[in-house]
Amino acid sequence: MKNYTTLILSGLVIILAAVLVGVLTYERNQPAEERAVQPLVEIAPMEPDSSKWGINFPNQYDSFMKTETNNTPTTFAGSSQFSWLERDPRQVILFAGYPFSKDYNDDRGHANALADVRATGRLNLDDSNPKHTPATCYSCKSTDNPGLWDELGMEAYDKMTFNEMTPNINNSIGCANCHEAGTMRLIVTNPALKEALAAQGKDWETFTRQEMRTVVCANCHVEYYFKGDGKYLTFPWANGTDIDSILAYYEESGFKDWAYPDADTPMLKAQHPEYEFFTANSTHYNAGVSCADCHMPYVSDGATKYSSHDVHSPLLNAEQSCGQCHTDTQYVTNRVAAIQEQVASTKIQTEDAILDAITAIKAAVAAGNADAALLDQARKLHREAQFMWDFVSAENSTGFHNPEYALKILAESTNRARQAQMLAAQSIGDTSLLSTGTYYVTPTP
Ligand code: HEC
Ligand code: HEC
Ligand code: HEC
Ligand code: HEC
Repeated sequence: MKNYTTLILSGLVIILAAVLVGVLTYERNQPAEERAVQPLVEIAPMEPDSSKWGINFPNQYDSFMKTETNNTPTTFAGSSQFSWLERDPRQVILFAGYPFSKDYNDDRGHANALADVRATGRLNLDDSNPKHTPATCYSCKSTDNPGLWDELGMEAYDKMTFNEMTPNINNSIGCANCHEAGTMRLIVTNPALKEALAAQGKDWETFTRQEMRTVVCANCHVEYYFKGDGKYLTFPWANGTDIDSILAYYEESGFKDWAYPDADTPMLKAQHPEYEFFTANSTHYNAGVSCADCHMPYVSDGATKYSSHDVHSPLLNAEQSCGQCHTDTQYVTNRVAAIQEQVASTKIQTEDAILDAITAIKAAVAAGNADAALLDQARKLHREAQFMWDFVSAENSTGFHNPEYALKILAESTNRARQAQMLAAQSIGDTSLLSTGTYYVTPTP
């Protein structure tokens, strides 16, 4: 009898212990809101000052603040602010007639976004000039935006000039761009993203937590344009987010960012389409990996685990970023290096093809007697080729986020650029315009 009691009691203890471990493990793996984190202070909705959120969440705040001083470069990116125009002078010609030919630096950490947009040589602060910079340029740079969009509406916001908006903007990117105060859940804060998803029949409120760990970055890391005179922030996603659908959208809308000098091609500037590029069937996206998995890995502070908010190149902390899924981090980072080398060198060949197309189109225009239909076809191909090249170039991973896609797009871009060159030559019957390497650009190291 005594033995039975001991047996039953020990059995009960083991079951209780197992249940407890189960409950604790489950709890630990829940997002913060479900873990019922007790706030120290109440945070106002859309509070722009990240340091106030930091009282409740010091680990996230402290790691976030590191993005201000990071400046370690990697081979193709990193947090130093090198000039793309110095590194690749072909881009000065590719962007001729557009502000990107004057100032184009590599991106830095989130805490610098506001200082960097104010310092860029691309701004035109002369409000009497029709090409002055609109307030829309602040859309991805500040925690003040969610509150301002709520108060003014995005339409009124975007109609203001950059100068007019400046006094309202005091904080760089921070907590309020990604989180809802109180629940701390990840949210869509940018009305343009909400509208672009809705146009595709999607409602972000129904997305899973893992989906949100990618979609929250799409508040900013996307292709966009300023629609109409009101400079309304718009993502060109109505047909889909792959490059063909985006190009088709721009064809239908007839939108252009600028006209290429002396060629009169209606040009498009790609922005930073990390979201579209990554989600186009990349190996990692298809495997369910999110942006935050690589860029915001879990790190520990004693017994506490939290998501590192020190967002930067994962090559600088590959053990944390890749090591959670890949046992051999050396192997995978070597793969990154090989992919990036291949994409970077292919990109230069594409640039040479576009430069030859520009030379030929300009010559055909200058001749004054070109076959107008052929010349227009050449321009259309020039426009598409450059946008395709730029889609890969402005995407900040040098192809890694989706290597096959990068090489496919570059091949198609080169093809269109060479066709543009041939049609331009044909339009005035001048075979000398078929020569290659028409721009000799001295590469700088
Ligand atoms: C599988 C891991 C992985 C995923 C997932 C991932 N990235 Fe990256 N990301 C990288 C690597 C590797 C680089 C290249 C860094 C370099 O060249 O130094 C990079 C580069 C970047 C850069 C440029 C970094 C710099 O130093 O300038 C940005 C911005 C970026 N990613 C954003 C995103 C966004 C947004 C998503 C989701 C849409 C995403 N990444 C998904 C691994 C990843
Ligand atoms: C660029 C977007 C972004 C910004 C800015 C941001 N976060 Fe996060 N945060 C995330 C993501 C992504 C996660 C992971 C959420 C998940 O897994 O559900 C996260 C998770 C959290 C969590 C849950 C616990 C954890 O560490 O996973 C807290 C708390 C948090 N963030 C606080 C903050 C605070 C405080 C700030 C401002 C200093 C901030 N966040 C800024 C994207 C952001
Ligand atoms: C509110 C807009 C916004 C959101 C949301 C946002 N980013 Fe960024 N991100 C930026 C801007 C703007 C920059 C460039 C800042 C600069 O150069 O000063 C940047 C830079 C970066 C960089 C380069 C950092 C470096 O040190 O070179 C990485 C990597 C990055 N973001 C990844 C992400 C990831 C991953 C997410 C989602 C978890 C995300 N971002 C969400 C706007 C945003
Ligand atoms: C959350 C998990 C996860 C993280 C984090 C992660 N990966 Fe992966 N990675 C995967 C999965 C899953 C695959 C697909 C494996 C397969 O199908 O065999 C993969 C495949 C790869 C491949 C092969 C790709 C191909 O097309 O064959 C490379 C290279 C790679 N990862 C590099 C990296 C690097 C570099 C990092 C860090 C910056 C990283 N991964 C972070 C899960 C991850």
